[in-house]
Amino acid sequence: MSEPEIHPVPPGFAARAHVDAAAYAATYRRSVEDTEGFWCEQAAFLDWITPFTQVKDTSFALEDLRIRWFADGTLNASHNCIDRHLPAKADVPAILWEGDDPAERRTVTWGELADKVNRLANVLTGLGVRQGDVVTIYLPVIPEAVVAMMACVRIGAVHSVVFSGFSAEALADRIADARAKVLITADEGRRGGRAVPLKRNADRALERERAVAHVVVVRRSGADVPFTPGRDLWYDEAVAAAAPHCPPVAVGAEDPLFILYTSGSTGKPKGLVHTTGGYLVHTGTSWRTIFDWHEGDVFWCTADVGWVTAHTYKIYGPLLNGATSVLFEGVPTWPDSSRWWSIIERYRVNIFYTAPTAIRSLMREGEEPVRRHDLSSLRVLGSVGEPINPEAWRWYHRVVGGGRCPIVDTYWQTETGAVLLTPIPGAVPNKPGRAGKPYFGIRPVVVDAANAELAGPAEGNLCFADSWPAQARTILHDHGRFLRTYFAPFPGRFFTGDGASRDADGYYRISGRVDDVINVSGHRLGTVELESAIASHPAVAEAAVVGYPHPVKGQGVFAYVTLKGGIAESEGLRGEIVTRVRDRIGPIATPDVVQWAPALPKNRAGKILRRILSKAAAGDFADFGDTSTVADPDVVADIVARRRAARVDGAAGVP
Ligand code: WTA
Repeated sequence: MSEPEIHPVPPGFAARAHVDAAAYAATYRRSVEDTEGFWCEQAAFLDWITPFTQVKDTSFALEDLRIRWFADGTLNASHNCIDRHLPAKADVPAILWEGDDPAERRTVTWGELADKVNRLANVLTGLGVRQGDVVTIYLPVIPEAVVAMMACVRIGAVHSVVFSGFSAEALADRIADARAKVLITADEGRRGGRAVPLKRNADRALERERAVAHVVVVRRSGADVPFTPGRDLWYDEAVAAAAPHCPPVAVGAEDPLFILYTSGSTGKPKGLVHTTGGYLVHTGTSWRTIFDWHEGDVFWCTADVGWVTAHTYKIYGPLLNGATSVLFEGVPTWPDSSRWWSIIERYRVNIFYTAPTAIRSLMREGEEPVRRHDLSSLRVLGSVGEPINPEAWRWYHRVVGGGRCPIVDTYWQTETGAVLLTPIPGAVPNKPGRAGKPYFGIRPVVVDAANAELAGPAEGNLCFADSWPAQARTILHDHGRFLRTYFAPFPGRFFTGDGASRDADGYYRISGRVDDVINVSGHRLGTVELESAIASHPAVAEAAVVGYPHPVKGQGVFAYVTLKGGIAESEGLRGEIVTRVRDRIGPIATPDVVQWAPALPKNRAGKILRRILSKAAAGDFADFGDTSTVADPDVVADIVARRRAARVDGAAGVP
C-alpha cells in the first residue's frame, strides 16, 4: 500500500483543542512511564462515594491474570451521568431525539431524564431486580433506551443491551446466557418507514426462556401487540405510578456495569463483562479528549444502542460530561439520502461519529445530497468499526467536513471498552486509512507469530502490553474462554484478533481480523456462528463461510454450501438458507453469496482449507499457494469453476 498524504492539524484548531502536539507527546510519555499516576489523576473526573486507595492491580500473565482498577472505591454510574449535572443543567437538553419519521422529534432535558430514570429504577426494584441482577434491554434508538440503561445502573443492576435488529432466537440465546429475569422492550421499532416487530420477537424468545418474570414494554408505535397480563407491563403506566426518587446505590468499582455480546471465532456469542469504575473513568475522559468536546458542543454518534460504540461514546461518554447529544432512530437513506445531513444542519451538530460502511454507501449517492445542507457547524468527524479506505476518508473529509475537520479514526473493540488508537484532533495530523497513535496510557505492540515484539516500521499481530481501565474483565460464565481467546495466543499480552502495521512515524494501520471473524458493515460476525445457522437447515450437509471484499460493506458474507445426498440445488433452497440465517441471527448476517459446493476442500485430517475458499470468494484465482495438502484436488477445481461463473459485486475476477 502506498504511503498516504498527511493532513496537518487545521490552523486555528490546535489553539482551542484540549490537546496539542506538544501536550500529546508529553502526556503520552508520562502516561506510560507512570501509568498509575496518570489514571489516578484521570479518576478525579468522577464523583466517588468511597475514594479508592489502590489504582492499578493488573497482570497479563496467563497463570495470574488480574485486571483490577480502583478496586476499593465505590461510586454510582447514574449519579455520575445525570445527578451531578442537574444543578447547572436541569433545563438544558441532554437528548435531541429524532424518530424515523422526520416529523417526530423530542427534546429530553437533564431534569426529565433524571425523573424518568429515578422512576424506572423504582419500577425495576418493585419487580424484584436487585444489585448484580441482569436486565436485558431490546429497544430501538429512543430516549427510553438511555433511561433503561441508567435505571439499571442506578440500583446496581447490570444491563445487557441486545441489538434490536437481532432475531428472536438471537435474543433468546442472550437472555439465557445472561440469566436475565426482566426484559425491557417496545411494541415496535421503526426503521426506514418499516415496523420492526420487537414485542413479537420478544414473545417468541420468551416462549423458550421462561425464567423471565417480567417484560416492561415501551409504547413506541402504539401498534396493537400481544400482552401477557401478570408478566408484561406498560412502561408509561409503570413509570407514571412509580415513586419519583430512587437514591443511587454505592457500587464497587470492580462490580459489573454491563454485559455486551459479541461474536467470536468459535460458536457461541460471548458476553463481555465491563465493570464500573475503570470503564467510567476511561470512557468519560477519553470521549472528551478524542472528540475535543467543549461545553455547548452538540455531539452525534450514529451507532445503534446495541453496540459498544453506542455504549461508550454515544451514551456514557456524553452523559458523563453533561453533553447534549443527538439520538436518531432511523437510517441514513430514508426518506432520502440526505437524511443525515439534514439532521446535522437542524441540530447544528459539531461532532459527528459514524462508520466507514455508511460513508461508502452515501458516497455512492454523490455530493448533491450533502451540498443541499449547511454543515458548517461540524468541527470534528469520527470513524469507527472497520478500517476506512483512503477514498472514503478523503470524501468524508472534503465533502462532509468541508476540508476543515480533523477525522478521528478510532480503533477499539467491545473487549477494550474504550478507544486505544486514534489521532487525537489538534495533536496528531491525519493520514487517511491510518488509525493513528496510541491513546494515553496505552501500549500497543506488533508481534510476529512467535510473540517476538517487532520494533519500528513493522507488520504483524496487534497486541497490547499492559492493561487500561476500560478493559473487559471476563466473558460471562466462561473465564477460561476469556483467557484462551485473548491471553493465550501471545503470552503476556492482550491479543486483539487484528493484524496491523506501524509506519516510520509510529502510525498504526489496521489490516483486519486474523481470526475467523468477519467484519460486515462494521458488525462482527463469527464464521462458525454463520455456518451453524446454515447447517441447521435440514437440506444442508455442511457449510463454510468466509468474508470477501465488498465495495460498501467492507466485507461480504460468502457461504459455500454442500447439500445432503440426493437433494437438488435450487433457487428456492438458496432463499431458504438465506432466510434461515436471518431467523437465527438477524438481517445483518444475511449471506451475500451462496455458492453450492458438492464438496469442501479439506486436508487429509478433514480440516476445511479456508485460505483457498477465501481466495476463491475474492475472485483471486492466481495463486492458491501450496495445495498439496488438499485431499481431493478436483474439489478445488470445481469450486473455482463455479466461482468463475458467478457474478459477485465488488470482488476481483468478476467475469
Ligand atoms: C474493527 C467496535 C480498523 C477491528 C468499536 C476490531 C477497526 C473490531 C476500527 C471490533 C478502526 C474497529 N480501524 N478496524 N478504526 N475500529 N475495528 O467489537 O477489527 O464491534 O477488532 O467494536 O472492529 O469491533 P467491535
